[in-house]
Amino acid sequence: MIQAAPLASTAAIAESASEKSLLRFITCGSVDDGKSTLIGRLLYDTKLIFDDQLAALEKDSKKYGTTGPAIDLALLVDGLEAEREQGITIDVAYRYFATAKRTFIVADTPGHEQFTRNMATGASTAGLAILLVDARKGVLTQTKRHSFICSLLGIKNIVVAVNKIDLVDYSHVVFAEIEQAYREFAAPLGFEHITSIPMSALNGDNVSTLSERMPWYNGPTLIEHLEEVDVDSDLTAGPFRFPVQWVNRPDLNFRGFSGSIASGRVRPGDDIVVASSGKTSKVTRIVTYDGDLPVAEAGDSVTITLADEVDISRGDVLAPVADRPEVANQFSAKLIWMEEERLFPGRSYLLKLATRTVPATVTALKHKIDVNTLDELAAKTLGLNEIAEVNIETGTAIAFDPYSENRDTGAFILIDRETNATAGAGMIMHGLRRATNIHRHHLSVDKEARARLKRQKPAVLWFTGLSGSGKSTIADIVEKKLSVRGQHTMLLDGDNIRHGLSKDLGFTDADRVENIRRVGEVAKLFVEAGTLVICCFISPFEAERSLVRGLVEDGEFIEVFVDTPVELCIERDPKGLYKRAIAGEIPNFTGVSSPYERPENAELTLPTEEDTAEALADRVIALLIERGILDAE
Ligand code: ADX
Repeated sequence: MIQAAPLASTAAIAESASEKSLLRFITCGSVDDGKSTLIGRLLYDTKLIFDDQLAALEKDSKKYGTTGPAIDLALLVDGLEAEREQGITIDVAYRYFATAKRTFIVADTPGHEQFTRNMATGASTAGLAILLVDARKGVLTQTKRHSFICSLLGIKNIVVAVNKIDLVDYSHVVFAEIEQAYREFAAPLGFEHITSIPMSALNGDNVSTLSERMPWYNGPTLIEHLEEVDVDSDLTAGPFRFPVQWVNRPDLNFRGFSGSIASGRVRPGDDIVVASSGKTSKVTRIVTYDGDLPVAEAGDSVTITLADEVDISRGDVLAPVADRPEVANQFSAKLIWMEEERLFPGRSYLLKLATRTVPATVTALKHKIDVNTLDELAAKTLGLNEIAEVNIETGTAIAFDPYSENRDTGAFILIDRETNATAGAGMIMHGLRRATNIHRHHLSVDKEARARLKRQKPAVLWFTGLSGSGKSTIADIVEKKLSVRGQHTMLLDGDNIRHGLSKDLGFTDADRVENIRRVGEVAKLFVEAGTLVICCFISPFEAERSLVRGLVEDGEFIEVFVDTPVELCIERDPKGLYKRAIAGEIPNFTGVSSPYERPENAELTLPTEEDTAEALADRVIALLIERGILDAE
């Protein structure tokens, strides 16, 4: 789901990996629980530490170690932890080791509360999670939080590593109590297998060798369990899903669809359907670099050719005719927020699911989930590392499966349109059919007809700027000039709209996003009516201004930035609001205690210090003429 590019590998592992099965797992816990020591122990016991590293480790252990004469295995891993604190390394470190039976990739993530995001990144591809529990402390809030995130991300296999058992005298009673407490807590989380292992990562008890100090324990060692556990059988067992990565058309004689099989199997002769269009065909060949295959399965990268000329492009999903994914433009999902910039319902993001990328908005934030208590809390926005249940609407319908059925076709990321960063990671629960039976009416009298009747070109004139910058004053003059020219106009102004359409909204960031979303929709309706609509809103965020720009056709949105320095607005203070805001009487006041993002793509910037309102209004009229919206006189 989330890009999880393993960093490096040794040639030896890479070579043997092809014959052995691979297990990806995540370790959850903190350095205090012995996480670094455990990873160090796994690398050490599987001989993945090279001689020179070992020599350095012995030296460092004497110098910085906390383990007396013994080698401090945590030092192997903690170097990275320290780099991370300085912000140098990436958030998730991947480590490799191998035994005769299996190759392993461990995602090692920092255990802190604020690292939900990192844990989600590491867990998204993991088949198993090791939860470290300090035998002296038992199941902590942190253990619960990690468990919840693991269950959210669909991990079915849990290992409760009851570590530091040596510090409780290898007590069977302590172990049994922790095992029982964890099982009770985890019952509602839907894990398939929970295996508890008492161990001392430091001394090596029950990690790779069965400890003689715990004769009461008759389960496997950690390594044995990791070697035997069955994790990936269900992917090939699921229905065939093939998200098309690209259309492979080297010449006119060949047309194939390339990608990686997300789940199931496919054979030549299979009947398939293109999920979004419902067009059907038959698989003719499964092509690879090493020749054609009689069958291909989950994880294979192949090129599929079909018997018919079906219209298919990147992002389409091929599936069996009898077992199709859902196709919808609305669905409910769990969402983990990963960006400093908060999530606002109504704001437009890009949603990427498998190979498909489409515009999307969160239409409802149903509740956020306290990861420590699992309580559901009311929320209007989401901050970094917060988790919520949401409804999402995509610009076009997409094919998907519930995440519980398929982690590849049920997971998505939301991308910030301004920064291109991954803003959130989501797991689809189910499609919402609500709006699928509401179709747009075809109207006989359309925008062109209405505009023709009014003998004008419709447009949105969007004035943005600080409160008191002069938006309304200039807009008022512009509207007068337009009506003298016989234009049909409408003026929407923040103060007025907030007495009606937006009277339920205040001035939090979330409410401003919603305010502008509503106004944008209204402005669009006026454009459809063939009107020149003038809008005066602070509209402090670039994202919403570009959202409104996107609602109308190219050239129909004219952004006018009324550029007045905040010092001047404070001096003018036409409504006396700045005075009260500075005195702390009005919270979230733009320019004082709430941000304003200066426009970067405005069609026109009006510096109010330099000219009169009348002259600036003339500049607006001149621009409208230049853009062909008004005729030259
Ligand atoms: S916007 O941010 O959502 O675009 P809008 O333009 O509708 O704001 O409303 C701004 C007007 O509301 C201001 O001109 C001012 O008169 C009034 N107002 C009241 N409280 C605030 C506030 N906290 N921040 C900004 N404007 C406020």
